Amino acid sequence: MAYPGDLEKMLNLVMEHNKWRRRETVNLIASENVMSPLAELIYLNDLMGRYAEGTVGKRYYKGTKYVDQIEGALANAFADVLGAKYVDVRPISGTVANLATYYALAPEGGVIASLSTRAGGHISHNQVGGPKALKFRVVELPWDVERFNIDVDGARRVIEENKPRIVLLGASLYLFPHPVREIAEIAHSVGSYVIHDSAHVFGLIVGGRFPNPLKEGADVTTSSTHKTFPGPQGGLIASGLEGEVNEAISRGVFPVFTSNYHMHRYAATYVTLVEMREFGEQYADQIVRNARALAEALHANGFDVVAEGLGFTRTHQVAVDVSKFGGGEVVSSLLEDANIIVNKNMLPWDKSAVKPSGIRLGVQEATRWGMREGEMAEIASFFKSVLIDGVEPAKVREKVVEFRRNFLEVKYGYKIDAEFARGFLRDLGIFL
Ligand SMILES: Cc1ncc(COP(=O)(O)O)c(C=O)c1O
Repeated sequence: MAYPGDLEKMLNLVMEHNKWRRRETVNLIASENVMSPLAELIYLNDLMGRYAEGTVGKRYYKGTKYVDQIEGALANAFADVLGAKYVDVRPISGTVANLATYYALAPEGGVIASLSTRAGGHISHNQVGGPKALKFRVVELPWDVERFNIDVDGARRVIEENKPRIVLLGASLYLFPHPVREIAEIAHSVGSYVIHDSAHVFGLIVGGRFPNPLKEGADVTTSSTHKTFPGPQGGLIASGLEGEVNEAISRGVFPVFTSNYHMHRYAATYVTLVEMREFGEQYADQIVRNARALAEALHANGFDVVAEGLGFTRTHQVAVDVSKFGGGEVVSSLLEDANIIVNKNMLPWDKSAVKPSGIRLGVQEATRWGMREGEMAEIASFFKSVLIDGVEPAKVREKVVEFRRNFLEVKYGYKIDAEFARGFLRDLGIFL
């Protein structure tokens, strides 16, 4: 291999990263995942360099006869799964899906009611993110710490008093389903739209292990396509509404918030959706069991796992208050040294986003690698070694690398047919 030295360095960096994150670490970042081999292969396609501004059949450029079919099939397949009236798969991320939806439903701005980041709201729900740019006034939906959920009576007061254009549900720290039905009834009585941001739990919804917000009364749901739903990074909007509002959503996506749609992800997203059709229930079921098992094992090892009295979690996530170990930043750094990747996270009782008391764990990727309840107990014992027993993280790292050796194949997805792969790459101009 004779590439310029700086390029070789870059190639090596990518390979080092791949080896580290794919084969040697336990990844517990709740917003990440890995695609199946087939989805990854097909992610590499000519559409990564193309444009198709506009909508299916009404493009501004030529050369789009196949992408029209691909995008149309993907949107229809999601509409079927979700029971949606309109699906837009063009948003390139969950954040873009949110912004396009806010703009479509309330182009003149106004009031948006959402959760604070302490209570799990995403930055794109809040005054720190997109709502600020769109000149919304953000009012906070109150949080009931005991029930670790939205305080419905408090939310009623906020909604009736402020009559928001949009009430936003769904979260980044999301342990228990939000009361969509109750809040939708209140919101609709004052003329608000209800959006449920399903980014984190989308794979659980598609797998049938989390309530479908459109069936619970949300008007629109937005999502990412790469968290519990294990597709490529991307976004989507699914509307349960009829008529002109869906055209407004379409215009919010293009020309307002996107110009190109990163269309090479469409086919890989479709592969993932078909995989979810076949394996989604098993996968979602195992995720929820694993999250519960991890929470219980951490609790048994002496960690302050959030929501003990509520059974810890009904999603892929586990939240742990690690203030007694120095807080989320200190703990996530120590765990990283042991090859366990987590993020620091605010908890409802926190004041500072920079020095939060929590860590958030997600088991969806571990589940994808084939781990089950027994492995969750092993992971919890790694936490104990590093944080309670004071074992050198480097020593624990050796054990984590060893542990990962048994989990290097993505489950709940399709393998690559070698013949197909050779033909696929050859047509792309890649000859091996
Ligand atoms: C609830 C929620 N919505 C939206 C997003 C943003 O998604 P994306 O990173 O695809 O823009 C996130 C990100 O993690 C999230 O947690």
